[in-house]
Amino acid sequence: MTQPHTQTAPQARGLFITLEGVDGAGKSTHISWLADQLRNRQLSVLTTREPGGTDLGEQLRTMLLHHAMHPDTETLLMFAARNEHLRSCIEPALTKGTWVVCDRFTDATYAYQGGGRALGKNRIGVLEQWVHPALQPDCTFLFDVDVDIARQRVLDGRTPDRFEHEQAAFFQQVRAAYLDRAQNDPQRFCIIDGKASITDVRAKLTRQLDQLVQRHSNLQDHAP
Ligand code: TMP
Repeated sequence: MTQPHTQTAPQARGLFITLEGVDGAGKSTHISWLADQLRNRQLSVLTTREPGGTDLGEQLRTMLLHHAMHPDTETLLMFAARNEHLRSCIEPALTKGTWVVCDRFTDATYAYQGGGRALGKNRIGVLEQWVHPALQPDCTFLFDVDVDIARQRVLDGRTPDRFEHEQAAFFQQVRAAYLDRAQNDPQRFCIIDGKASITDVRAKLTRQLDQLVQRHSNLQDHAP
């Protein structure tokens, strides 16, 4: 006897959203709120972070944030953690239609290692091609704020880690590298004023999320 089978609607890939900015720019205040906004729209959402997001990635994060190392080692470990994260967590989630909201991704490597550590773009580009040649975030919220304000927030708030211990000049380079990336990919980046009130930031995030949800529902309508 043939079994009746229920037909499920084909599932569009989830969208990949990243949040970036210098330490103290304010992104952490909004991540879980942002994920809840998507869940309120009946979407399945995974929030995660880099470096981290897997057991191995979290162990690498502890090393990266607390052990002194050569800038090349730091860059390679960032991508080692990312590779694990992509393969075991991010890609499977996107494939099954879950949206992924990730606190930092490869833009952070371009900004911190490429800009802050002055490694430049080329070697990071090689690793990016190796680890995720075909994947880019669908939308990146870049929280941008004056470095002095960001520094003050970090130093007031917690015991600084290895990156947060860096001098203002390091963060100026990080910020410049982020802004350079945003300028070169204005379709993907949405710059958020890190000095704006929580209400104003969330109003802007809501407008962007509405557009992304619309885009996703168009994809859903055309899913094979
Ligand atoms: P977090 O404090 O925002 O969780 O980020 C941890 C630190 O790791 C932050 O100072 C930025 C740094 N970082 C890099 O230097 N390169 C990277 O690729 C990533 C993902 C983070």
